[in-house]
Amino acid sequence: MKVIIVHSSPNTDGLTAACATASQDGISHAGHEAQILVLNQMNIGLCQACNDGWGTCRTLHTCQVEDGFQALHQQTLQADALVLVTPVYWGEMSESAKAFTDRLRRCEATLGKESRMAGKPILLIAAAGGSGNGTVTCLLSLERWAQHIQARVFDLITVNRWSRDYKLQTIQAASHALVARGFPD
Ligand SMILES: Cc1cc2nc3c(=O)[nH]c(=O)nc-3n(C[C@H](O)[C@H](O)[C@H](O)COP(=O)(O)O)c2cc1C
Repeated sequence: MKVIIVHSSPNTDGLTAACATASQDGISHAGHEAQILVLNQMNIGLCQACNDGWGTCRTLHTCQVEDGFQALHQQTLQADALVLVTPVYWGEMSESAKAFTDRLRRCEATLGKESRMAGKPILLIAAAGGSGNGTVTCLLSLERWAQHIQARVFDLITVNRWSRDYKLQTIQAASHALVARGFPD
């Protein structure tokens, strides 16, 4: 099983990075392959809501804004499962996570049940390193996003500064289970 772990913090040595590494450890301990992709290093800009609101996302299910998104879109479609880790900013996902998720949603949600993400397991992690507030609202919008693209949410995990130690273990265990067990029939 091939998994991509999307890391969406500008900080490559913080809580988000620790969560991504814990996930990768869990997946590799289960004998599967996981690649961490650092969104902030991938030149992925915001959705431009092309034309009157829709560009080729609606008709061709590709994004016409040419940057790093096209390669990431393909990598995402080729992966068997996705782990998305975002720092919590203002109770929401990070700007880079928003850019990626918005553009992917436009290309895939417009396919309805034919979405190429349909049924794909997704593990969503919100890392709040400040007050610890805002993980629920952050995950709420990510859960809705996963539903729009017809993916299946395997788990939603919150982590903050004081839950860090045991939540990193949880993330490792959840990532292991994601590839070793998947969803029950
Ligand atoms: C613009 C901004 C808004 C933030 N908002 C929140 C917040 O709502 N709740 C919280 O607990 N932390 C908040 N933080 C702190 C981040 O969640 C924290 O720094 C987190 O650890 C970032 O992940 P990192 O360690 O990968 O950088 C915010 C940080 C920034 C830069």
